[in-house]
Amino acid sequence: MSGFSAEWLALREPVDAASRHAELTARLIDWRQTRGHLSVLDLGSGTGANCRFLAPLLGGEQHWRLVDHDPALLMQYAVFDQCPVERHCLDLTGDWDRLDFRDVQLVTASALIDLVSATWLERLAWRCREAQAAVFIVLTYDGTLVWEPALPGDETVCEWVNRHQHTDKGFGPALGPQAAPAFKALLERLGYQVNLRPSPWRLEPAQAALQAALLEGWMAAVREIAPDAVDGLSEWAMQRRRLIEQGHSRLQVGHWDLFAAGLPI
Ligand SMILES: C[S@@+](CC[C@H](N)C(=O)[O-])C[C@H]1O[C@@H](n2cnc3c(N)ncnc32)[C@H](O)[C@@H]1O
Repeated sequence: MSGFSAEWLALREPVDAASRHAELTARLIDWRQTRGHLSVLDLGSGTGANCRFLAPLLGGEQHWRLVDHDPALLMQYAVFDQCPVERHCLDLTGDWDRLDFRDVQLVTASALIDLVSATWLERLAWRCREAQAAVFIVLTYDGTLVWEPALPGDETVCEWVNRHQHTDKGFGPALGPQAAPAFKALLERLGYQVNLRPSPWRLEPAQAALQAALLEGWMAAVREIAPDAVDGLSEWAMQRRRLIEQGHSRLQVGHWDLFAAGLPI
């Protein structure tokens, strides 16, 4: 339904966990120490990877509300006994009134906001501000793809991928790589103290399955927006496949982590 399969989310989950900016996560944990019972809203939760990563670190009494429009992904949430977790099947593009911010102290999302539009992000910023909630938004794509070894064609593919990033994913024209800096600016205007830190995936030859899945996903993205360009990239894609299969390929995919708190009372 959403275009994000449980298999894809499972493939990226350990890499996401290893790539998060450790110092920013530590700041969140420090912030958490000043709170008692914590109520967390996780937007675009998928199968719950963000909750699985954060809940054990945050500790203490917590309550999580996972929101996603894909019931199949929500169903696959692997129950763990860290804290009570509610699952809400909701389309974030239109169901703002049903999105419950009551008593929420932390709004979080992982790998979501590069899909959304400027208008949607502004609304989210306002809703967080109204709830006086801290904001922890991680693993937002930043527009950089660096392969090793480099091949002619890498930059062209990156440009197409980044153009595809701006297509409408249901939320209006997507911000793609601009989303995290844009959200930082919006939140600062609303009085938040915001930290934005890099959290790149650094994929080694052993992560061949993820590299191969990314390669095929990006070729599909190019095919979608520029079918005529695909033939010219087939040699590039073949060489890339070969390097991945032979265990000679490394890939860095840039992301941002963002933590915003410190609202004036
Ligand atoms: C890249 S996945 C990230 C999932 C999860 N946060 C993780 O890190 O594994 C993006 C998620 O956003 C959800 N999503 C996309 N559009 C949505 C919408 N309009 N309403 C609610 N969820 C949406 C997808 O179903 C998917 O689970």
